[in-house]
Amino acid sequence: MLTPTQRQQYDRDGFLVLPAFRGVAALAELRARAEALVQAFEPDAASGVFSTRNPAVTADAALIASADAVHCFFEEEAFDAAGRLVVPKDRAINKIGHALHDRDPVFERFSHGADLAALARDLGLAEPQVRQSMLIFKQPAIGGEVRWHQDATFFVTEPVSVTTFWFALEDAALDNGCLWVEPGGHRGPLRERFVREGDALRLQVLDRTPWPGEGAAVPLPCAAGTLVVFHGLLPHYSAPNRSARRRMAYTLHATDARAPYAPTNWLQREGVRGFA
Ligand code: FE2
Repeated sequence: MLTPTQRQQYDRDGFLVLPAFRGVAALAELRARAEALVQAFEPDAASGVFSTRNPAVTADAALIASADAVHCFFEEEAFDAAGRLVVPKDRAINKIGHALHDRDPVFERFSHGADLAALARDLGLAEPQVRQSMLIFKQPAIGGEVRWHQDATFFVTEPVSVTTFWFALEDAALDNGCLWVEPGGHRGPLRERFVREGDALRLQVLDRTPWPGEGAAVPLPCAAGTLVVFHGLLPHYSAPNRSARRRMAYTLHATDARAPYAPTNWLQREGVRGFA
């Protein structure tokens, strides 16, 4: 699947951009399915608003319950001070998570196959276990920022093994919230760990190494169909979307069964399987 040069790039940079990994038909099918899931979703008071800026907001039962479900999370800015939706429902969803790859047949097909299995093996995942899936909308005008973080924060294994598969389902550009990464930053320490204590979730600081400064971040604008794969320790973020264009992406997070998965991780599920 990967050439020796691509392998070297991944080891050096901590990420790899693979254009045209999925074709237009598969992308269109996935986008349509995501829109149908939102249409079918009935918001209620228990629906979680998703934010990484305020950990307390994420620390709710909706997040824990979504580990094995297909659940829609709202944008923070979708509501006014009185809690009323200020944009139509189909523009108000931040993301759908976190078991699409197992619980929805269309997403299940997209998330498995010989190509992904071979890629995971080439990236060093000898026994991949797909832990989580997320459909991220990044809505026009209100799509929220996702601040600097490392995905290993949310999937602690010893040693670090989580690898992210980030599919652009629509063009991702500077003005609609494309990914930004710190090339080579995966050689730094894990800064934070998201731990579950009973029904409470909290972010625990492990290392005070500062997040990359301006100038250290590189944007990864890419066309729909591109797959970006990156190491669990790679610092990355995406800016808010203030443009008129949506930026839909789909992510899978896989760990290696050889690296024990922490019992304190927020996401615990039975029957985790690989890409085949
Ligand atoms: Fe991330």
